[in-house]
Parts: sequence; C-alpha cells; structure tokens
Amino acid sequence: MTSRQILVTAALPYANGPIHIGHLVEYIQTDIWVRFQKLRGNRCLYICADDTHGTAIMKSARQRNCTEQQFIDEMQAAHQQDFSGFDVAFDNYGSTHSPENRELCHEIWGSLEAQGLIRQQVVVELFDSQSGESLPDRFVMGTCPKCKSPDQYGDNCDKCSATYSAIDLIDPVSTTSGEPPVQGEAVHYFVNIEALHEFLDEWTQSGHHLQDEVANYLKGHFLHEPLRDWDVSRPAPYFGFDIPGTDGQHFWYVWFDAPIGYMASTKQWCERHGEDFNDWWKSSQTEVHHFIGKDIQYFHCLFWPAMLKTAGYNLPEKVHIHGFLTVNGRKMSKRDGTFVMAATYLKHLNPTYLRYYYAAKLGSRLDDIDMNLDEFQAKVDADLVNKVVNLASRAAKFVADTGLSAAYPDDGGLFQQGAAASDAIAEAYETCNYSRAMRLIMELADRANPYFDDAAPWVLRKDPEQADRVQDICTVALNLYRQIMVYLAPVVPELADKTATLLGQPITHWDDAQTPLTGSPVATFKHMLKRVDAKDIQAMIEESKEQAAAAAETNNEPAVADVAAATGDSAGPLQAEPLAEQCTFDDFVKVDLRVARVVSAEDVPEANKLLKLTLSLGGEERRTVFAGIKQAYQPEDLVGRLVVMAANLAPRKMKFGLSEGMILASGGGGKEVFMLGVDEGGQPGQRVH
Ligand code: MSP
Ligand code: ZN
Repeated sequence: MTSRQILVTAALPYANGPIHIGHLVEYIQTDIWVRFQKLRGNRCLYICADDTHGTAIMKSARQRNCTEQQFIDEMQAAHQQDFSGFDVAFDNYGSTHSPENRELCHEIWGSLEAQGLIRQQVVVELFDSQSGESLPDRFVMGTCPKCKSPDQYGDNCDKCSATYSAIDLIDPVSTTSGEPPVQGEAVHYFVNIEALHEFLDEWTQSGHHLQDEVANYLKGHFLHEPLRDWDVSRPAPYFGFDIPGTDGQHFWYVWFDAPIGYMASTKQWCERHGEDFNDWWKSSQTEVHHFIGKDIQYFHCLFWPAMLKTAGYNLPEKVHIHGFLTVNGRKMSKRDGTFVMAATYLKHLNPTYLRYYYAAKLGSRLDDIDMNLDEFQAKVDADLVNKVVNLASRAAKFVADTGLSAAYPDDGGLFQQGAAASDAIAEAYETCNYSRAMRLIMELADRANPYFDDAAPWVLRKDPEQADRVQDICTVALNLYRQIMVYLAPVVPELADKTATLLGQPITHWDDAQTPLTGSPVATFKHMLKRVDAKDIQAMIEESKEQAAAAAETNNEPAVADVAAATGDSAGPLQAEPLAEQCTFDDFVKVDLRVARVVSAEDVPEANKLLKLTLSLGGEERRTVFAGIKQAYQPEDLVGRLVVMAANLAPRKMKFGLSEGMILASGGGGKEVFMLGVDEGGQPGQRVH
C-alpha cells in the first residue's frame, strides 16, 4: 500500500477562554485519527493554532488591563499545557496573530480582489458618543427587544436566546463610556460568494467531502437560494490585521483570517523542517482533512472552500463534523459543575480515561455526545482496566523470570482472529466510527480473557512439570494483550508506551498486530492504570462549581449600572478630596453657573499657568477670565468651545488684568485639568442648574 500524505487540522480554539472538556471531544477525536494515520505508515501532520482576533479578545484584554498581545500569549501557553496534559500531540501549534498569517491573508485577499469579488457597502452601526469609536455588538448593552430582559448584549439575549443587532436594543448603552451610543455609517468590505455558487454546489454535494447530513443541510439552508455577500471587515478599533490600502481604518473580521491560520501554522512547520509549503497546500498528493464541531460548518463548508478555490489552494478532501458534548444528558452547566475545564479534570482524573471514553462514544455522525458520569466510570473500569490492563498484569508476573516462549504456542486461532480483525478496525477508525472500533477491539479482549481464565496458570504453576505450559499460556495472553494494545494505541498512547516497556518492544506500526512476539524478556509488571474513583469525579465536579461561582463574583460581565466599576475607576480622587459639608439649595443657587462660548484665548507670557479667555454669554455680553489651564490646553483648541462659567463671582483684580468669573474644570491642576463641556444643543447664556 502506498503511503498517503495527509494534513489534518482541528478548529483553532478561541484565545478568550481556557480549554474545557467540550473542546476536548474535538482535539482528542482528531488526535486519535492522526495517531491512527501515523501508525498506518502514512505521512500525517496535525496542525492547529490559537484563534486570537476579534472583539471578545479586545474586551477581555481591557477588562484585565493588559495588552491583547499579553492576553493571547498567556492564553496560548495555558492551551498548550492543557493539550499536552491530554496527550494531544500537534506537529505545530501556531497563532493567527503571526507574521505568516498576515502574509497569507494579504495574498488570499489579493486573489479575491483580482477576481473582482470584493465590494464596499455602507453599513449602519453604533458609535461611542464620547470617543467616536465604532462599537462592536458586544460593546453595547441594553434591554432585549424581544423578551425585554435588561442588561443584554448587542448580539443576542442571554435570557431568551433571541439574536438581533445592537441597533435593535431598547435603551442601549456603550459599555466603554456608559453613554447611549449614536448611530452612524461605516464602510464594510463584502465578498461576493454567490459568484462561486456553482462550484460550492458541486463541491458540497458530490465527492464525499462532507457527511451526508451536512451536505443536505447546506443544500436546504443556504445553497437553494442565492448566497448572501459575506461581510468580512470591521472598522477600527479592532484587534486583528488591517486591510491593505485602508490606512488602518478597516480590519479583517476574525473569521476571514482564522482558517487561513491553518495554512500559516503549516508554514511554520515547513520552515522548521525545511519542507516546501506548496507540497502541503498546493499539491494533489496531499489530502487536507478538517475536524470541526457542528456550530462552525457554515464557515468551513462554504466560505473556506470558496476562498481556497479563488486563491488556487487545495480544497479539503474531507471536513469531519462532530456534535456537541452534553454531561448527564444536559448542556454543560457552570452551576451544576459540569462545565469542567481541562486543567480541572487533570487535577483529579487520568487523561487516558477520557480519551478512551470519548472514543467509545464517538460515531461518524453529528449527534451530540453525552458524557454520563456513571457510565464513564463503569465503561473505563470494565473495558480498559478489567479487560485489557488486567490481562497484562495477571499474565506478566508468571513470566517475569522466563520471558516469552521461544515459539508461539497453539492458541486455538485466537491471535489469527485478532490479526484478521485489522481491516475492519482500521476502516472504523478511518471513517471516524471510533465507537465501532472500540467494540471490535473489546471483542478481542472478550475472547482473550476466557482463554486465560480457563487455562488458569495460577493453578498450574503449583506443579513444576507444568512450567512450560504456564509460560505458553502467558505468552499467548501477553500477545493477545499486545495485539489489542496496537489497535488501541491511537486512543491510549500512554498505555501503549507502558506496554512497550513491559514487553521490550515498541509499538511502531499497525501491522505489529500481525506477528506475535516470541523469546523476548518480560519486565516486572509496573502499575498501568487504576480504576476510576467516584470520589475523584465528585471532587472534580465540586471544584468546577466553586470555580464558576468565584468567576461569577470577580469576573462578572459588567451590568449597565456597573460600567464605572468595570472600567476600573479608582477610589483615589474622592479620597483625596472628600465631599464638602452639606449645603442648602439656596446656597447652591447663589452661584450663577452659565454656558459660555470661548471667543478668544491667548497666552499670558508672564504667567506659568494662565490663559486669558474672552467668553461670550450670547449677544454682546463678554467676560474676561484668567484660567489656570495653560499646561493642559492649547489656546487655539479652545476657541469656539462651550464651557461652563461661574458668572456672578465678584471680579478679581489680578496682575495681568481683571478676572470676571471662573470656568469649571476638574483635576488637580497642571496637565491634569479637564474642562466641563456642554452637550450638543446647549447655548451661551443658559443657566446651569
Ligand atoms: N475559533 C473558532 C474556530 C476557528 S477555526 C478556523 C471556534 N473556537 S472555539 O474555541 O469556540 O471552538 C473550537 C472547537 O471546539 C470548535 O470546532 C467547536 O465546535 C468545538 N467545541 C466547543 N465546545 C464544544 C462542545 N461543548 N462540544 C463539542 N465540541 C465543542 O469555534
Ligand atoms: Zn430576550
């Protein structure tokens, strides 16, 4: 059989949160497939990266008071540690915020432009009234237009799951300033996907690139009518790559550069190994396989092939799509403690359990995978510990001194049966029907154990004349065990390694299951895998509950009323100058505050701090005010502005002239002076109450 060249990817996890056991369905599923391909002798790369761009990351970095770069670097380190804790072995783990990715984005964008597929269109969106920044949906909160729940984000409602755009919210507020946003217009860039409709019809509906249910879904939901243009840009500010030729004003939407990250990460691997990138992405010799969850099929089965096609790269041979993890029949829940982070799992339980359990549950369809915690324990104990590992531990101790028999004994055809199961098991792995593969493998264990039990070497061994027979029985049992372990190696690599140590022979190829070992030494059996302890499961759930509760307290998404707290406003200014003694309303109205317009502003060269302002109270009314704002404001920036002045203060004679009032400002002085303004519509001469 000639060896295949296969490039495999798992979806790039978002860098805005840690890896949890839901994600692991995918990364373990893919890791098993890659290890299987490698064991079969195929050239296979497992490529992944962190997906680092977008508003969620911007927001998290702001909340944590760090740069986006710091935030994504930390998250990437955590992700990689989690993956390695579960024996998920990538050949390269990159980041979408890499120079390689930027370069490839430019190239692919260039191809889309060259083929006339990009157009601009004005889109109505919300802006912050204070900073003028455009406000992504997640930066706006308000009341859900559908169910009227308060404090909902601008993209969808937590309470009723309605989706809408931020413009539809009732009483919307910017989470950056706490002010109502203003509507405005911004240019967006769109890709004309409809131009590739015919190609997508063909690619999705023929050639077996997709599971049938996926092909049907795409046909029924998208491809039966003209495809809508894809909005691929976001206006600044945005954490991502700026679109060339837009002066930093427009960025690629995260979903444009994310899948290109598959290529960028491959490129890093190629550079490290002196290989040609085009051999992996532009060669008919290479099969590209993507593994993703059902929530992101739209991007991977329509936009992504369209981009690849346009830019002249390999199309995926297959997109393998899995369902979602539920725990005890319900959606993972923080409150129930079933939203378990990878790192939390690892504190309490062995990763091999989860790898085996997921394998035993995964089929080749899109159904959700339920992790029933009782079944998890029962299945791992019954299959991995009782049927497989126990076979080795029971047999190995009787041949630790003698090693395996020199010739493979008569086993009534058991090893041969196991060897003959090779193709069926391989087929099940190849088609991602791992639950079938596990069943076929456990059938082998179900035959091996009765053989050993019936032969009862622990009884025979009391009779010295039966020593050869005991050695033969254990030679058979250990070979049947090893055969099982060859087939299981993609799922439980750690046990496969321990098996290699026990029998002095590494498992390097699928066909190691075809030939028994003979005459080789057997090491002293070392503990391989203990049974699952229900107390450990319980402790993991409890800890997950506590984490969720603690996170809800410290890290709560800011409710609208809490915007000030969430922006990290310090208590310092108020402490530095505590509130003054109470006064009456009559006291208050004694000071006549008025809106005034600055009509001229000049430097007072002899004074360190003063600017001389001429203020208009409307009509012919003018006042001269000397204000201590020279270090904070340029005179020319003030002319025309509306300010608030204390207009009935007794005039004060100063060295440079008469000051006929004061303008209102906050701050400690020097550069820290912040003048009060008046919102649009205010007019000079109006009283401020
Ligand atoms: N960043 C995007 C993918 C970009 S690929 C170019 C993304 N990230 S994610 O972190 O939200 O999800 C990563 C993968 O994990 C996705 O394929 C997603 O379907 C999968 N899963 C996330 N939660 C899951 C479960 N609860 N169950 C099973 N898979 C889940 O999407
Ligand atoms: Zn709602």
